[in-house]
Amino acid sequence: MRETLAGDASGHDPWHVQRVRRAALHIGRGEGADLYVVELAALLHDIADSKFHDGDEEIGPRRAMEWLASLGVEPVVVEQVGAIVRDLSFRGAGVEQRELTLEGQAVQDADRLDAIGAIGVGRAFAYGGHKGRPLYDPAIPPEAHATAERYKSNRSPTLNHFHEKLLLLKDRLNTPTARALAERRHQFLEEFVERFLEEWEGRDLG
Ligand code: ADP
Ligand code: NI
Repeated sequence: MRETLAGDASGHDPWHVQRVRRAALHIGRGEGADLYVVELAALLHDIADSKFHDGDEEIGPRRAMEWLASLGVEPVVVEQVGAIVRDLSFRGAGVEQRELTLEGQAVQDADRLDAIGAIGVGRAFAYGGHKGRPLYDPAIPPEAHATAERYKSNRSPTLNHFHEKLLLLKDRLNTPTARALAERRHQFLEEFVERFLEEWEGRDLG
């Protein structure tokens, strides 16, 4: 994981994975999940993102499973981790989420918590810069993407991503432990968007 994700500037670097690992273990402990599966899935969840591999949705789970199998991890654990890596991702506001195991729910919640709050703001703009997107463009309204294809192919400014995904996440968390953690982070996002627009429109100039 460290080798593969080192130097990533799109918000999926090894530090993201370490934060997700820690939060996923915290959530998994609170929910009584199998922490061995939680930890492996957290460590491997971004090992190969389809966004950066021509939309190949199988590459992440395949790499994760091949790696674990090569280390002699029990096949049932390899399967469990592979399924989590496959079904974790957000695919658009109107796109139905795949069913996850309790372990998967813990990792998904941890991944989503890392997309909100102060770190979430930082990662969103890092991702936007990585993709050459503008910060904001008042002429381009946010969109509720009804299909995964539309969500993935969107080219909208980074501030729109707050409405298209980040502000939706707190209501899409799986576990009570994560929902409690999300409150403060969500509040910060709302305040950030409000201030961003206030400054953009010069309303703070008086
Ligand atoms: P997931 O972890 O659900 O697969 P992503 O990999 O899309 O989600 O998101 C990882 C990080 O990249 C998040 O912090 C997210 O906000 C950011 N990100 C993804 N798409 C965009 C976008 N269009 N604009 C800004 N940030 C984005
Ligand atoms: Ni992630």
